[in-house]
Amino acid sequence: MGAQNRSRILAYWCLGIAAVLLAALSLFLLNRKKTIVPQYVFSYAENQTKDYPTTMGGIRFAELVEERTQGRIRIQVRSEGEFGSEAEVIRQMRYGGIDFARISLAQVADNIPEMKVLQLPYLYEDADHMWRVLDGEIGERFLQYPQQYDLIGLSWYDAGARNIYCATKPVRTLEDIQGMHIRIQESEMMSEMITALGAVPVKTPYDQVYAALERSQVDGAENNWSSFETMQHYEVAKYYTVDEHIRIPEMQICAKHTWEQLSEADREIILECAKESALYERELWTEHERKARTTALAYQVEEIVLSAEEKKKFQSAMTPVYERYEADYGEDIAQIRALDSAN
Ligand code: GCU
Repeated sequence: MGAQNRSRILAYWCLGIAAVLLAALSLFLLNRKKTIVPQYVFSYAENQTKDYPTTMGGIRFAELVEERTQGRIRIQVRSEGEFGSEAEVIRQMRYGGIDFARISLAQVADNIPEMKVLQLPYLYEDADHMWRVLDGEIGERFLQYPQQYDLIGLSWYDAGARNIYCATKPVRTLEDIQGMHIRIQESEMMSEMITALGAVPVKTPYDQVYAALERSQVDGAENNWSSFETMQHYEVAKYYTVDEHIRIPEMQICAKHTWEQLSEADREIILECAKESALYERELWTEHERKARTTALAYQVEEIVLSAEEKKKFQSAMTPVYERYEADYGEDIAQIRALDSAN
């Protein structure tokens, strides 16, 4: 082989090696771009099942945040009460264990007296009235209250209206509920409300309600159709009385210590994504609630709709609860009432 040929082969070899190196380098750079290491990885607590509207809302929130921060902020949604009861989650958020959560207002408000007003029984005439309140100046103001308790309010999610359901006997009138043991959330206001109806409140975490009904530790409980169906309470409580005694919206919250780590720009993104995810959750809610009712009724649940006259008796029974709150929060109550359809 001549010297010329040898140097041509060598040149081909060099070119080949250079091409392989270039390809490897491009592949490396491409992969590096795909696996951005997030600056923050946050936890998000949710006590409902994976396909429940609030959980889907939380997942949408996490996706939006990750997208709008180009992967810098990752939020991991842990559903089905993985982090414990709502009361425990709030405690952990205050002391640095959990970053975000979706929690029932009843549980948040239990620690913040001013917030209880928003969940007074029969406060809203219907869902539209509640959204006029929460989407307006009042809702925005109430989102600020959790700050005094080391929590940041982000948005409001829907949870429909709550009704009473029983395992031992149907509730058709106010007399029927007298002395019955009714499971409630770990909330003082719920306790006051059930007592005002003449029943005995039994505070029980959400994931223990099925067992409490099954073992007759309580006669009944109260919740919206979606929770009644999702937690399969219809298997053990066959009488569902539509009294719509309360509307308790859900809150998305962030721990203050987490909030304080974030830049102003990131906080804005989080607030904007929380509000967008809330609109998505509300869309899912209506359909989920409708389907949940159909499923429960297919399981031979008797739906008892109170007559207007009987419902009035339930409403009047709440007078002592209002008397207690009117003194300090009368102005809020009046502002909320001013947004009903009659005004
Ligand atoms: C609703 C709410 C839950 C809450 C539950 C309860 O289902 O979505 O967050 O825990 O009520 O009654 O405890």
